[in-house]
Amino acid sequence: MLELAMSDPYFQSLFAERIGGASYGKGTAIYKFEKIKRAKRKALADHPERKLLDFGIGENDAMAPEGVRRRMADEINRPENRGYADNGIPAFKEAVARLMQREFGVKLDSVTEVNHCIGSKTALAMLPACFVNPGDVTLMTVPGYPVAGTHTGYYGGVVYKLPLSAENDFLPDLDAIPADVLTKTKLLVLCYPNSPTGKTAPPEFYERVVAFAKKHDIVVIQDAAHAMLSYDRAPHSFLAVPGAREVGVEVHSLSKGYDMIGWRIGWVCGHERIVRAFADVKDNCDSGQFIAIQQAAAAALDDPEIPKRTRAKYRRRLEKLVAMLTRCGFKCQMPGGTYFLYTPSPKGFANGGPGGSSVDFENAEACSQYLITEQSICTVPWDDAGAFLRFSVTYEAADEKTEDALMAETESRLKNIKPVF
Ligand SMILES: Cc1ncc(COP(=O)(O)O)c(C=O)c1O
Repeated sequence: MLELAMSDPYFQSLFAERIGGASYGKGTAIYKFEKIKRAKRKALADHPERKLLDFGIGENDAMAPEGVRRRMADEINRPENRGYADNGIPAFKEAVARLMQREFGVKLDSVTEVNHCIGSKTALAMLPACFVNPGDVTLMTVPGYPVAGTHTGYYGGVVYKLPLSAENDFLPDLDAIPADVLTKTKLLVLCYPNSPTGKTAPPEFYERVVAFAKKHDIVVIQDAAHAMLSYDRAPHSFLAVPGAREVGVEVHSLSKGYDMIGWRIGWVCGHERIVRAFADVKDNCDSGQFIAIQQAAAAALDDPEIPKRTRAKYRRRLEKLVAMLTRCGFKCQMPGGTYFLYTPSPKGFANGGPGGSSVDFENAEACSQYLITEQSICTVPWDDAGAFLRFSVTYEAADEKTEDALMAETESRLKNIKPVF
């Protein structure tokens, strides 16, 4: 039993176990992103003369397109947009159905097979409520976006991790899941294009997923937040694969492909009964996104040029980054999708220490800390399945000249320290 401190509120022992129980708020562990923030602050304080090169940001650097912002300005003044939106307006759902047909060849009934959400994060948080009872298993890929797993735990469920490794081409090995886990499994959460690995899913993999889900009575949730940022194949949808709509739903977002990250708008689509269950849970959590945002988002979805432009920009930046890091001795390849480069973390730098001595790292986190503190280069480390660094190309740069200058500055800091693998 934890001792309560004098400074603790009387309700300290009342916090639910799912957020730490009576220990809530008293932990001393420092999480990855906080460590990065602290190291950034230190780098800025220790080396004010050195520009911080920030490849750690996981958010689009641009505002939503001007036409979308203008539409929003109009919609905000319409009295009919003022109220609760509940489970969403038909105009948004119809624009989604048009987009799914145009971009992916997926025909949906906008009334029953589409529901908006206040960003895909909230949908991933709510979908476990539709299926998970205590003891049920959710299969989640690692590294990955953990929200559906956190909520699985909140409902008394258990997460079974599927590592995404280079050896398996960053696809989960569905055949390696033990039979006793499969009997308890209700959900398989996938994410392609994958964050952070940048891998896109070949249609054959999705076909295997459909067969696997049917064989083991599992529901599939495919997180397509980065769908429009696909480079090695045309943007595609899980739902386009035969049988997919019988086994699950896909969750989409306007955050990444449409530069609308702060607007909080996305959708769930696929099997009618799952969409309905999601809408029922959602109806008990929120009252819908502001109708003006839904209208502006519908206009964005009807403009196929927007995601094309976003995709071209991030592809260009990733190509420059991969070329520059390769010249510096990193072992990287152009990612299939997303705005992340996920690349093996060096075990050390042959000339990275004081006076050109060598430095070694026990994991990606140590390497990332070195890069921030010693080189003022910010990355995000991943040690869940091998040691990798994530470079994001969402840095702020007004034009291509500025992008090139940033690459040149990064190269000047990395070119002589010689990564060792
Ligand atoms: C893989 C993945 N899924 C979902 C989200 C959530 O996106 P949003 O809630 O902005 O739609 C993110 C955001 O970073 C993400 O990377």
